[in-house]
Amino acid sequence: MTTEATEGIQALLHEKRTFPPSAEFAAQANGTAEMYDRADADREAFWAEQARKYVRWETDFDQTLDWSGAPFSKWFLGGRLNACVNAVDKHVEAGNGDRVAIHFVGEPEGDTRDITYADLHGQVQKAANALADLGVGQGDAVAIYLPMIPEAVVAMLACARLGAPHTVVFGGFSADALRSRIADAGAKVVITADGGWRRGKPGALKPAVDAALDSGEHPVEKVLVVRRTGQDVPWTDGRDQWWDDALAAAADTHEAQAFDAEHPLFILYTSGTTGKPKGVFHATGGYLVQNAYTSSVVLDIHPESDVYWCTADIGWVTGHSYIVYGPMTLGATQVMYEGTPDTPHQGRFWEIVQEAGVTVLYTAPTAIRTFMKWGTDIPAKFDLSSLRLLGSVGEPINPEAWMWYREHIGGDRTPIVDTWWQTETGAIMISPLPGVTQARPGSAMRPIPGVVAEVVDDAGQPVGNGQGGYLVITEPWPSMLRGVWGDPERYRETYWSRFEGVYFAGDGAKLDDDGNIWVLGRVDDVMNVSGHRMSTAEIESALVSHPKVAEAAVVGAADAMTGQAICAFVILREDVISEADEHGEGAELVAELRAHVAKEIGPIAKPRQIMVVAELPKTRSGKIMRRLLKDVAENREVGDVTTLADSSVMDLISAGMDKGD
Ligand code: WTA
Repeated sequence: MTTEATEGIQALLHEKRTFPPSAEFAAQANGTAEMYDRADADREAFWAEQARKYVRWETDFDQTLDWSGAPFSKWFLGGRLNACVNAVDKHVEAGNGDRVAIHFVGEPEGDTRDITYADLHGQVQKAANALADLGVGQGDAVAIYLPMIPEAVVAMLACARLGAPHTVVFGGFSADALRSRIADAGAKVVITADGGWRRGKPGALKPAVDAALDSGEHPVEKVLVVRRTGQDVPWTDGRDQWWDDALAAAADTHEAQAFDAEHPLFILYTSGTTGKPKGVFHATGGYLVQNAYTSSVVLDIHPESDVYWCTADIGWVTGHSYIVYGPMTLGATQVMYEGTPDTPHQGRFWEIVQEAGVTVLYTAPTAIRTFMKWGTDIPAKFDLSSLRLLGSVGEPINPEAWMWYREHIGGDRTPIVDTWWQTETGAIMISPLPGVTQARPGSAMRPIPGVVAEVVDDAGQPVGNGQGGYLVITEPWPSMLRGVWGDPERYRETYWSRFEGVYFAGDGAKLDDDGNIWVLGRVDDVMNVSGHRMSTAEIESALVSHPKVAEAAVVGAADAMTGQAICAFVILREDVISEADEHGEGAELVAELRAHVAKEIGPIAKPRQIMVVAELPKTRSGKIMRRLLKDVAENREVGDVTTLADSSVMDLISAGMDKGD
């Protein structure tokens, strides 16, 4: 770790302020202090209890955990359930059909819709029948490429109802990214929309699906298209069908079947350390249990009285776990918002909180830092007194942002839960319990009851208080990923080979003097840009697929607003260098390369900065030393260069940067 980073950590660890929950909050909280003791005393019994408390099983399980095939786990063996029934039917049957499930706020002002659990019940049955009519059955994968509209929830739940694993692809990913995910998952059907609203304009989605399917062999037989913006769309007869027509033609009732607890619920692709995204997949039972449990004890959702709002997109794991499966299994009422925080004005989020009476808000540090930049006078114009709990997820939250969130959004009153988890963990793992923990700004604090995590050194030995190292999870947990789709070896190697017998999260962390965990960020080649995971290798391979690029190296440089920013160093092909020099087209070339990355992966992967260099710093064995490039990207003095094959390379790069400024 660099000296600067270490100094930064030391400063963080001097953070001693603590914020205990009010007596009033503690008295009504779902999570209690004794849960820690009970979970410690008998973890499996504790999880079995949560499983029966939060989830409806059509057949009860007879064994909580089978870890004999470690690192492959099985939870709630013998149990059978249906995730959609848990999220929808169960609430209607309990007499809560009139409760609003989704208070949808579209981007165009005034475009709102309230959907009750009874409404949803009708829609998921029709959608399940429509998909079944297209030949979708148990085990068939379905790709979902939709904006943030209620149909995305209906589509996911309809798949779950049929036992058809869904793979949701974030609408900001490109046609190429979509194609590789469709192919890897073997999706039979794609559910998309004509487009979505983005900053006052309709943005097309369907053409990306066409491009993905036109470019070669694929397993897709049918494309269902939701009409959202009303824009014209290209159409392939026989393959494409309007969602509305398909649902209208489908039968009204659908009897859900129960599936084995280990039946795959979904596949979600996430960036790893190689160029190829991993298809992380989750099993129905364990995933649902831990999501419902954490929605209750960490997000403290009281379904009969709360109005909950998670601002994540459904295309990321946070949307899967804390919009769809967790809160809905509890029967919560929630806001779903299609737009961006600054459309049509920078107070949009607070206006929604005021209008809908949001009580629990779950968002990301990047958003909080952006709101800080926009100024305190903006939230001050709105009545935010309905808020009683705030959550943070996706990246480390710096103490300043934590304090700002509490003061200016939480009225200096609400607890904050800084929740650490990953696509792979499926649900929250490390977080305060809001009615119990005396939270410290910037720390995710302790593993929740039922989870066991440690910070270890290079040799895998636990570090003491005040020390840093790697974050590991030492005991299996119900919502753990069941593997990498189609690649069991990659699962073993990525997560279970760094340290013997424990799960390696890929994050660095430090324990403060009181043993609280401070997650510092990735220690591998994964970047975290605005809470979105990006792989350096994936962007490098996108760059080198451009005909003008010979070689590329990508690093995540510290960025005050987005956490990290993507910085690329590229070497051009000989013939291109002279051409570029002669015509002075440097800026155009950079623009062209950024556009190329957007096309290959998606606009979110566009580098903030691309620097054209003559050489890249490499070790004698040919490995690019990203650490040195990071020094350059972060405007620091370049560190130790003694292991470089040619130590003058860094002088050249640094000199080039000075000239470039
Ligand atoms: C980071 C998002 C610090 C971390 C749910 C992790 C965090 C990666 C926190 C997973 C947090 C997430 N504090 N870092 N509270 N939450 N991270 O898979 O680096 O998109 O490994 O899941 O985000 O990102 P993913």
